[in-house]
Amino acid sequence: MAAIINLEQVSKSYHLGETRVDALIDINLAISAGEFAAIAGPSGSGKSTLLNLCGLLDRPDSGEYRLEGRRTTELSAAQLTELRRERIGFIFQSFNLVPVISAAENIEYPLLLTGMPAAERRRTVAALVERVGLAPYAHHLPDRLSGGQRQRVAIARALIKRPALVIADEPTANLDTETATQVIDLMHEAGREQGTTFLIATHDERMVSRCHRALHLTDGVIQ
Ligand SMILES: Nc1ncnc2c1ncn2[C@@H]1O[C@H](COP(=O)(O)OP(=O)(O)OP(=O)(O)O)[C@@H](O)[C@H]1O
Ligand SMILES: [Mg+2]
Repeated sequence: MAAIINLEQVSKSYHLGETRVDALIDINLAISAGEFAAIAGPSGSGKSTLLNLCGLLDRPDSGEYRLEGRRTTELSAAQLTELRRERIGFIFQSFNLVPVISAAENIEYPLLLTGMPAAERRRTVAALVERVGLAPYAHHLPDRLSGGQRQRVAIARALIKRPALVIADEPTANLDTETATQVIDLMHEAGREQGTTFLIATHDERMVSRCHRALHLTDGVIQ
């Protein structure tokens, strides 16, 4: 299988006044297309920093990141934004839904900028709403949904443009065990259907045990 993510000697530091924090040190990593990969490790080990780089939300200080074979370090900020919009979906611990629009409208949101005709948008959203088991709640505002339902909305929103890669940062941290299991299953199944690659930062053993592969980070180094 071709690597969708390829990191070579990637490092990233943060500077707080005089102090330098080396969040990632010489990371080498290849993730194959279609993989369901976990990034595990204690708090502060660099999981979110790694996801932010892989999600093109931030740039490495040194090293090379190739996404689907493209050398991202050579791209402008505008090109990175375009690539992120077209190829990557995001799921966060705190769901990050827009509170004033419905579940279905949250899921539709990424399609609004694509020029897809309204009727096709509605069909696409309705199919995915059904797929993630939200049909009875499609017109509810996020604050009328449970945590698990909100995360289903976030998963559907992340998948609506059929991205190559979904980046999920602690997607089950705010969920009880039964709900977390359902959410993990849903990510698995939807990912398999669409051929999506998942990169998931997690403390959650329930999640790690369901992934194809777990990479363990400690103090910015892959073990
Ligand atoms: N914006 C920032 N400015 C300064 N230091 C930061 C920043 N973001 C992260 N760090 C530091 O970089 C290191 C790695 O942080 P990161 O958030 O990647 O860890 P994490 O594994 O995601 O932790 P958690 O499990 O708590 O989410 C930590 O020492 C953290 O304090
Ligand atoms: Mg984190």
